[in-house]
Amino acid sequence: MIDGRSFVAAQDFLLGAKIYWTTQLYPELREEFRQRQSTAPQPAKNAEDVAELMADNVLYQNFAWLERHLQRFKYSGRYGLQPWHDQQRDKLAAMLDAPGADSLLALDDDLELPAYYTSVDIHQHPGGVYGDEIAGFVYERGARSTTPMLGGSHKDLHYRFADILLNEIGNARRVVDLGCGFGKSTRPIYEGFRDADVVGVDLSAPCLKLAATEAAKAQARNIRFRQASAEATGLDDGCCDVVTSTMLLHEMPPPAIRDLFSESFRLLEPGGRMSHLDFYLLPDPFLRFMHYSHSRRNNEPYMAPLAELDIEQELSDAGFVNISIQPFEEAVGALNNNRAWRFPWTVISAEKPA
Ligand SMILES: C[S@@+](CC[C@H](N)C(=O)[O-])C[C@H]1O[C@@H](n2cnc3c(N)ncnc32)[C@H](O)[C@@H]1O
Repeated sequence: MIDGRSFVAAQDFLLGAKIYWTTQLYPELREEFRQRQSTAPQPAKNAEDVAELMADNVLYQNFAWLERHLQRFKYSGRYGLQPWHDQQRDKLAAMLDAPGADSLLALDDDLELPAYYTSVDIHQHPGGVYGDEIAGFVYERGARSTTPMLGGSHKDLHYRFADILLNEIGNARRVVDLGCGFGKSTRPIYEGFRDADVVGVDLSAPCLKLAATEAAKAQARNIRFRQASAEATGLDDGCCDVVTSTMLLHEMPPPAIRDLFSESFRLLEPGGRMSHLDFYLLPDPFLRFMHYSHSRRNNEPYMAPLAELDIEQELSDAGFVNISIQPFEEAVGALNNNRAWRFPWTVISAEKPA
């Protein structure tokens, strides 16, 4: 039995350690790389060159160990999210029966989950975010510290992204949020686009149930959730003027991303806009190396293939125009702070020709 105070203390400790890793170890590591590079026969041109320079570096080895195991302890340790939620299973499962939630939700019991999705415990979530009826709660608690530098004082990055969508396409009437998870990305959209009908699509029934429960509690009227793949949503041709996603593309291998782009093209009405927030722009070999090694160590196997994809070409091949790939500032000043570790947040947008 885990008592609540020990759980909170352990999770706070892990978060503190992650912040130390982010703000102290990372800049030191970058400096070590700079020094090694300065005496190397030639500059590192790619992630492999950086790996060769850093593989036997003790600071790098410690950094790597912490990256893997802080996340493992967070989910599966003695005071991890999984055992903590396990012991409250019945209470949590009952919370998913909130009045009104069912009417916001269309589940598909026959949906076959793709092998790329079920073959990995994504970001070290035991059993993935889909297998356990309470997986949505575990994921929700875990996601609170995905970007530890944001803290409580910043506007959440999902709201910052929704602000961009609202500025670009404020008068949208129908919006589809692909890979909506437990609704964290969808909520700022259905709150912001009050006159639009919003549909959240995800493979995970437990996450969708939590998303619908929260929307019902918020008495939202303009949102529906649907269990389907982003590659084949089952929604009608031309049914929306905006397709969006947040942190979905890096969870899909390139062939599935191509299918998602084709599906988005099909869903959009002419002139409609697609906008994805994900991890893509890596302006130097050190950042690329760090991102690829994060991909390996955090069980995110499709992060590196996404970063290698020529997205502009892919979008153009799928028929999109007015393609834009821009860095995204997930918190005030984040783009000017090149000392702390951060994800390579990027907004990838394009239009279906009018
Ligand atoms: C990192 S989470 C992001 C969730 C949410 N957008 C957010 O920002 O909190 C990725 C989500 O994509 C979902 N997902 C992965 N592959 C998918 C696919 N092919 N179709 C639909 N959803 C998918 C996962 O179940 C998960 O909920």
